[in-house]
Amino acid sequence: MTQVKKAIIPAAGLGTRFLPATKALPKEMLPIVDKPTIQYIVEEAIESGIEDIIIVTGKGKRAIEDHFDQSLELEETLEKKEKYDLLEKVKESSNVDIHYIRQKEPNGLGHAVWCARKFIGDDPFAVLLGDDIVRAETPGLKQLINQYEATGKSVIGVQTVPYGETNRYGIIDPTDQDGRLYKVNQFVEKPVLGEEPSNLAIMGRYILNPEIMDYLDDQEIGAGNEIQLTDAIQRLNENQSVFAYDFEGRRYDVGEIKGYLKTMIEMSLEREDIRDDLLKFMERVVE
Ligand code: G1P
Repeated sequence: MTQVKKAIIPAAGLGTRFLPATKALPKEMLPIVDKPTIQYIVEEAIESGIEDIIIVTGKGKRAIEDHFDQSLELEETLEKKEKYDLLEKVKESSNVDIHYIRQKEPNGLGHAVWCARKFIGDDPFAVLLGDDIVRAETPGLKQLINQYEATGKSVIGVQTVPYGETNRYGIIDPTDQDGRLYKVNQFVEKPVLGEEPSNLAIMGRYILNPEIMDYLDDQEIGAGNEIQLTDAIQRLNENQSVFAYDFEGRRYDVGEIKGYLKTMIEMSLEREDIRDDLLKFMERVVE
């Protein structure tokens, strides 16, 4: 079986939830503590064994390319100032092979993935969405790759969400369950509240067989007037089963402001060099 070595990271979204911050800054570059969100995603891919990453960008996303590029000037300055810790951190972000392609119109997630079809060719591939940071003992994506290697079928990462929030996600209608792995009757994008087939939600991690591109070729517009990846996955599922896997680990929703801030606070409190000061500060401001 071909191993999963390629990944697509869609990053063409307009980031309207973070305006005006994202007027000139890609939302993927918003930092959690001192690292841009997209770097967490790239690191998860690399830790999962991915060797080639393609980032689907759009207008105003140049900063992402600069971030993963080598910055000789900055490296020299840090070296001169003997700031070796920082130098290592800066070099880390330019150590991977990343390719870029532009999505010319904002037509939705399905269309963004389809834009990378020539890079994918006939290989299975991963998709990682930047709004979800996953932290787990075994990286979230790696858990899905393990299932793909065991079954040869596309595998979609899911987790349970509260019933009142199911309309924000792609939701599965599970049939058979074997441990954390589900056979799926249907994948539904953003069902109306009360009509959701379960509360198992798609969490921004996918392993897909390349045939998905054939469905994306002629995928019709779906929820939110966009070409939805979930709709193409459902069509693939009707032809060759697509599994869902309830992966282990914490998922942080950094795609909306409150989730972003909570993640920022939690991860800051984990840092020894920040924790005590921040705790004291927070006690003072909530007095
Ligand atoms: C996308 C997917 C959806 C998934 C969600 C996870 O939606 O279309 O199926 O559940 O990401 O974050 P978006 O958040 O881009 O609207």
